[in-house]
Amino acid sequence: MTALFLQSEIENPYSFYQKMIEENPVYWDETNQIWALYSYEYCLEILNNTNAHIPAFAPNPNLNEYASRIISNLARLSNGIQHEISKETAGLLFSYMKTVGINSIMEELLQENLSKKINWVDLVCKKLPILTVLKSFDFNEVDSLFISENITVLVKIMQPNKTEEDVELINTLSEEIYLITEKHITELPFYESLINRIAASYSISSEETISICISNLIGLFIQSYDACRGLLSNSLLQILSNENSSKKGFDKIWIQKMVVETLRFDPPIHNTRRIAVADIQLNGITIKKNDPILVVLAGANRDLKQFINPMLFDIERNNSAEHLTFGIGGHECLAKYFSIDLAADALLYLLANYKNISILENKIEYEPMINARLPKAIWISLL
Ligand code: HEM
Repeated sequence: MTALFLQSEIENPYSFYQKMIEENPVYWDETNQIWALYSYEYCLEILNNTNAHIPAFAPNPNLNEYASRIISNLARLSNGIQHEISKETAGLLFSYMKTVGINSIMEELLQENLSKKINWVDLVCKKLPILTVLKSFDFNEVDSLFISENITVLVKIMQPNKTEEDVELINTLSEEIYLITEKHITELPFYESLINRIAASYSISSEETISICISNLIGLFIQSYDACRGLLSNSLLQILSNENSSKKGFDKIWIQKMVVETLRFDPPIHNTRRIAVADIQLNGITIKKNDPILVVLAGANRDLKQFINPMLFDIERNNSAEHLTFGIGGHECLAKYFSIDLAADALLYLLANYKNISILENKIEYEPMINARLPKAIWISLL
């Protein structure tokens, strides 16, 4: 049994996760030499365990100084004191984001296509989150267009194994996006106070502080891309497949509940990784120092010890929000409320503006990714 598989190759990973919770909640995958955790209890324990670190990226000598700087400064990839500094920076940046209404972005995106037969993934899911983040930081139209059009390539910076061709593209784009972001960040009204706040808390050079700020702003673009794309996709699929949806009316509270239960039931991110930096005891088993660990968040979300009748999509359950899709503990996602709000607003806009939405395909294909379950395309007709 392999714990690592491409989401594109499995029709229903959830029945596998449930079987593993029952039979092997802490499983050693001999082929891939990795521990895989499936139950809610053990996923939670590892995410909160300070001896379970985010795996370090092996230094890649072919990445240029910009790409290397971005990777080494990101909160998402760091541990210890470096994580503290980066996380505080990312959190401060996040708190400085302006609230932008998404209706005008949605209107523009949907207007591009007059045929009323649209691919929701390409037209909205891949663009709305990044455009919203860019607008929240007042990037101008030209820069926003450039960054949003190239984000698909830039996110490959997060892949541990990159092809030569990827490295070349990442290098070119990292330099361009780093320089655009550097210029832009210095013009923002909160720039001085951001730099001063970080400089006051940590003894690092101002050059380094600036680099951490730029990298983590780029980090917000990167982090917003795949996961938000998946949430917008999977939530729409649930809404369109929910037999009662038309009877319930479409207020924001109802849509928000749909989104949160989707995060539990069909999450965009299925797993994250850790590495043991000391021996860890789990379920009477010793995870040895230096062993890699796969934390199957989407498995934890289907654990019947945590969620009554977990295989049922039920927006009225009283603990949907206890899902682990945003992680938990020191590395918990900074953008959980932002993401839920963005998805709920986008879906509210769609349902309010198009009274007759129907799905045009009966089989959804998924991207060939291990950590995320992202529909490749969702063709819908809008009337
Ligand atoms: C549906 C949407 C999203 C999901 C499911 C999601 C999921 C996650 C998860 C699972 C982690 C923790 C990884 C770990 O502990 O191994 C994480 C971290 C993070 N996320 Fe998200 N994310 C989403 C959207 C976003 C967005 C829109 C942004 C930025 C605008 C963002 C920024 C971050 C950052 C900066 C971290 C690192 C926090 C740290 O290391 O302390 N995320 N996210």
